[in-house]
Amino acid sequence: METNIIYNKSSKIMSEIEDKSVDLVVTSPPYNININYGNTTKKGKTIKTKSKKYKDNLEEKEYRNLLKNVFDECKRVVKEDGSIWINIKNRYKNGVIVSPFWIEEYFEDMYLKNIIIWNFDWGGSTNKRFAPRYEYVYWFTKHKSNYKFNLDDVKVPALNYRPDRYKNQLKNPSDVWRIPMVSGNYLERTGHPAQYPEKLIERVILAGTNKGDIVLDPFMGSGTTAVVAKKNKRNYIGYEIENEYIEMANSRLKNI
Ligand SMILES: C[S@@+](CC[C@H](N)C(=O)[O-])C[C@H]1O[C@@H](n2cnc3c(N)ncnc32)[C@H](O)[C@@H]1O
Repeated sequence: METNIIYNKSSKIMSEIEDKSVDLVVTSPPYNININYGNTTKKGKTIKTKSKKYKDNLEEKEYRNLLKNVFDECKRVVKEDGSIWINIKNRYKNGVIVSPFWIEEYFEDMYLKNIIIWNFDWGGSTNKRFAPRYEYVYWFTKHKSNYKFNLDDVKVPALNYRPDRYKNQLKNPSDVWRIPMVSGNYLERTGHPAQYPEKLIERVILAGTNKGDIVLDPFMGSGTTAVVAKKNKRNYIGYEIENEYIEMANSRLKNI
């Protein structure tokens, strides 16, 4: 099975990947909020491309079917001690929240270990409600107790270190992660309209895999998952239907 490759095709069928061969899946699926995929942005301006362009405004049933299909494939390829991590957020319909908790139904045969709140300080402003400043990261394991969790590799400095109480100054980062969004002036910023930050994925990959393991992202976008995997000596496999984004990802990977 080939690794360190991003396939330019839909992840609905991942026939290139053998059953129970992947250590960890981490991904951010399309949110179905009418994002202009296929195009890129440069200095705030949209640059249109000729690619086929995924439509991010599917009928709700079609959208959920797509995710179910891809998640079923992820479950097929994940090892018995492997994990699936999914970054998703609330949507709004006519001013009312549609939460993403329905995805839990698709993982009833796995174990939900955490719902991480990824908190950031950026987003649209509103005076009709509190401004939304978080997304979720779901963590499911295939086995109830036999799974990788390298807590020591992701501990953070304790703010109120008390030598009389704690052995050292590092602590569990908790299930609320404050990590900035990728803003326009960040070095890692690409022209992809929905890029997630390397720091967010780094914590997932360090906690959930060891060097040499295989990480899969079925919605690879600009290649953030592959970049973090490569930087941390893990192998990656990705799927992405927009060719422009694969080119973006490969140019990021070349520079590592
Ligand atoms: C939320 S974005 C992922 C962004 C990525 N995490 C990053 O940091 O750049 C979702 C991506 O899924 C791609 N996509 C949509 N449907 C797909 C499918 N069926 N198979 C593979 N990729 C798909 C879109 O083109 C888009 O780039």
